Amino acid sequence: MKMLGIETSCDDTGIAVLEVTESLPRGKAGKTLQFRILANVVSSQIKIHQEYGGVYPMLAKREHEKNLPIVLKKIPQENIDAIAVTYGPGLSPCLWAGLNFAKNLANKWSVPLIPVDHIEAHFLVGLLQQTDKNDQFLGIEDRVFPAVALIVSGGHTQLILARDIDKYQIVGETRDDAAGECFDKTARILGLGYPGGPAIAAAAAQIQNSKIKIDLPRPMLHTKDYDFSFSGLKTAVLYDYQARPEKERESEEYIQGMACEIQQAIIDVLVHKTMHAAKEFKAKSIVVGGGVAANESLRIRLKHTTDATSIKLLAPPPDLATDNGLMIALAGYFKYKQGAHPKNPDSIEADPNLRIA
Ligand code: KG4
Ligand code: ZN
Repeated sequence: MKMLGIETSCDDTGIAVLEVTESLPRGKAGKTLQFRILANVVSSQIKIHQEYGGVYPMLAKREHEKNLPIVLKKIPQENIDAIAVTYGPGLSPCLWAGLNFAKNLANKWSVPLIPVDHIEAHFLVGLLQQTDKNDQFLGIEDRVFPAVALIVSGGHTQLILARDIDKYQIVGETRDDAAGECFDKTARILGLGYPGGPAIAAAAAQIQNSKIKIDLPRPMLHTKDYDFSFSGLKTAVLYDYQARPEKERESEEYIQGMACEIQQAIIDVLVHKTMHAAKEFKAKSIVVGGGVAANESLRIRLKHTTDATSIKLLAPPPDLATDNGLMIALAGYFKYKQGAHPKNPDSIEADPNLRIA
């Protein structure tokens, strides 16, 4: 079947088409699933939001409405069997832009419309693995469950215990700012622009034996729960920045040193808590997703740490870690198979505060 996926929950307009082939291999129990990405187009609004240093929902909504038909034109539209669309969590006006567009398409093509949880999609896309040399076909990784998912984005930081596809429990989450938000806000303090994550990572990578000493806190590192807190880290960055003479804080040495320390502090907490949860719940795998999962230093640290254990690390390629339509199409396929979607597309409503469990 061909599933079209639409994503507009924040500042990326994404549409993708995923082809799924189910086959019954001889002598084996159960179905084998084969996935092929027929198209995956993301139109980013970064340039527009850069001017304001962040995402303004009404502005983002107008951009989505403008971009959706343009992105759709770049997508093969023949024989689509169903449409999947993000209905939450996310920015309400943005979610409605995608939902209304999807409803129109579903009605026009007379195909089912499947509402998808954005967080679940960030998790599921991590399970897709290459199965042939030509990068053409993908399969679902086996021996994954129980899995601990670390979903880290601009709006969310959650540790989720997944016992199966569709069996989720949030075991920890941020009590204030999300990890991506911390990158974005501290980058703004340093004048590094939007989005902050890639900017901080790039500045940190430039560092050459900086002599400026910066010690940021690792908030909640040793608490016994799986929760996070990043707003204190942002405040610590602001105080350190304000306490330095102007000449010093505007120097490359300071900005690079600070970027490096911010990145390390965030990674230390994320990795420590994720490993702790994975051990406690006897996870076979750790699955990372969300924009912050595109961070190379985080991926390297997680790889090193899991390599010393029997836990498998699953991380999507960076362009599938950030928001995209493909992850929505994939999650939509599983929802479609579960038969849980509403009969009438027009009855689907956005749920900005949707929680996976
Ligand atoms: O999942 P995503 O694309 O959108 C949301 O659902 O929020 O995540 C966007 C977030 C932003 O906060 C951005 O700064 C962060 O992901 N991000 C990164 C990197 N690339 C994107 N953070 C750290 N390192 C990166 N390379
Ligand atoms: Zn996201």
